[in-house]
Amino acid sequence: MSEFGPLSRIAYVNGSYLPHNAAAVHIEDRGYQFSDGVYEVIAIHRGSLVDEAAHMERLERSLSELEIDWPMSARCLSIVMRQVIGRNRINDGIIYLQISRGVAPRNHAFPAYSESSLILTARSMPPFDAAQASKGVDVITIPEIRWKRRDIKSISLLANCLGKEQAVQAGAYEAWFVDDDGLITEGTSSNAWIVAADGTLMTRHADNAILNGITRKTVLKIADEQGIDFVEKAFSVEDAKAAAEAFITSTTSFVKPVARIDGDKVSGGKPGPLVARLLDYYAEHMNDQAAV
Ligand code: PDD
Repeated sequence: MSEFGPLSRIAYVNGSYLPHNAAAVHIEDRGYQFSDGVYEVIAIHRGSLVDEAAHMERLERSLSELEIDWPMSARCLSIVMRQVIGRNRINDGIIYLQISRGVAPRNHAFPAYSESSLILTARSMPPFDAAQASKGVDVITIPEIRWKRRDIKSISLLANCLGKEQAVQAGAYEAWFVDDDGLITEGTSSNAWIVAADGTLMTRHADNAILNGITRKTVLKIADEQGIDFVEKAFSVEDAKAAAEAFITSTTSFVKPVARIDGDKVSGGKPGPLVARLLDYYAEHMNDQAAV
């Protein structure tokens, strides 16, 4: 038996490591009642957290924008994350971390006093497989109906859930939100990219309209290092349909080529050459992170 004991799914809830099915929060937790909280999803590759520092930086920003206190120091949180990975024996997978403003009698205004709640879960997922990832997925486009602070990684994801369900009902993998100007913001749980006809890589600039994905940032860094031309600029549905290539990025989808948008083929319905290169570079990045 390892130092972590027999295998069973373990969650962390406000100071305790509990069997997953016994882990619960209070009914008056503001996360439960108001979606008053933030979260992060971090990939685990060969037991190591991928881009941990960038995720922690974004978590800090989300918390400070909503004036939610850290439940513990960043140093302690990094220890708890490693405990959760170890206790669940995750080699490849994800860790989910959620912080809410805590428990207080229901009242919209912030409570005078509350202690932030912290929960963590982890689960195994198949490791990054560039061959598997190179299979294209379908996306549909839907109207943007979310609030105007999408830069905050808030747990308030109802519009995202409705959008993803619409995608599933349509037999697609993802839905791209389209704003009132006809420009694509992002997917329900991923960032949107195209490669324009002249080979320029494009993804929307990171402002309040989108979540600044960590995978997005990594891919931009890779493009910079590899001398691939890119521009951070919004593009329309028409631009996307006329693009040479399209793809999505996220912690759980990595880099995924898009085969069809609203049923129209992109790049002949097959992954294009630039996304294939980016997939290889991203696989290298995951391996480098695991070796840290
Ligand atoms: N979602 N945009 C939205 C709306 C997202 O929810 C996500 C991630 C992204 C990509 O961010 P990142 O590259 O940091 O994962 C963009 C996570 C994976 C989720 O909700 O499960």
